Amino acid sequence: MKALLLAGGLGTRLRPLTENLPKPMARVGNRPWLEHLILHYKAQGVSDFVLAVKYYRELIESCFGDGSRLGVRIEYSVEKELLGTAGAVKNAEPFLDGRFIVVNADIIHQVDLASALAFHERRGADVTICLTEVDDPSPYGVVEQNEDGRILRFVEKPKKEEAPSNRINAGIYIMERSVLERIPAGVAVSIEKETFPQWIASGAGVYGHPIGGYWMDMGTKARYRQLHWDLLDGRFPLPTDGEDAGEGIWLGENVRTGQGVLFVPPVMIGDDVTIGDRAVIGPYAVIGSGSRIGSQVRLSRSILWDRCKVHGGAQVNECILGSGMRVGPHILHEAVCNRIREVQRP
Ligand code: GTP
Repeated sequence: MKALLLAGGLGTRLRPLTENLPKPMARVGNRPWLEHLILHYKAQGVSDFVLAVKYYRELIESCFGDGSRLGVRIEYSVEKELLGTAGAVKNAEPFLDGRFIVVNADIIHQVDLASALAFHERRGADVTICLTEVDDPSPYGVVEQNEDGRILRFVEKPKKEEAPSNRINAGIYIMERSVLERIPAGVAVSIEKETFPQWIASGAGVYGHPIGGYWMDMGTKARYRQLHWDLLDGRFPLPTDGEDAGEGIWLGENVRTGQGVLFVPPVMIGDDVTIGDRAVIGPYAVIGSGSRIGSQVRLSRSILWDRCKVHGGAQVNECILGSGMRVGPHILHEAVCNRIREVQRP
């Protein structure tokens, strides 16, 4: 069975991190999220992937190629124009057969695929929408289901007390290829806003299956930051490469620290990172591979991607810095930067 990963969107809400990068390539735990996602499904027996790509697709293709580096097979379904989440699935039709999985590649999650597939099979569903439970469903489209799990309708942005449930679309679907006949070709269509409500109204077998475990849509900067704090706090059990040095300190290979460096947990440091004398790192710091942190730097509540360079004496707090960013000897607070190379004094 193939997994179709939707990874072509513009990621506008996560700019500037996504100004020159597809959102699913944003780094999580020192790797592009898309890589974690492929490995998560591989661990559950999926070996064939179709990546639906458009925006900066060359970055995805050069990172994953035919998938052999990760021990899977990857094909690319390329859109000439962005077709929306349902249009992208329709566009991938030539790559798909039988039953397949569709995943919004910007959703941080861990799913028990076997149980979702068993549910789909038992119900004889056309589509199974995986559902996640949220404390406050009022900002979302909330599902109303019958006792069999069939979805009767989506209620958009209900008042909390009027919501029929606290279950929302998790952005992970199991589908039968036959349903693709119902999606028009070559036009932009949203699967959440148009396709599913239409299918439900027309009596198609659309079922909802709650998945437990961690779930986070990383589409905004606040949520992107939060998922890292969840990772560091152990609420999101992502397999990571680094050695657990204990007490909330993860160190990659070949991390070189000067004299008097203080780690204030939780911190996660990638491979080949150099940290100068008397730097204070943490709490809540993620430093990407190949980064160089100068002496006496103070870095807290910040996420640095790979190859960043922070000048000695700088103070970096509440920041997210993209690959290869350079920070001068400044105080940097609440900056989110990716495109420019030198961060100026705010
Ligand atoms: P925003 O611009 O911030 O809304 O982000 P987005 O449009 O990139 O993401 P959204 O949350 O709307 O989409 C969910 C997932 O579907 C993301 O992984 C997107 O990359 C992907 N996606 C969205 N639209 C398209 C599309 O037109 N084509 C393809 N191939 N993927 C899409």
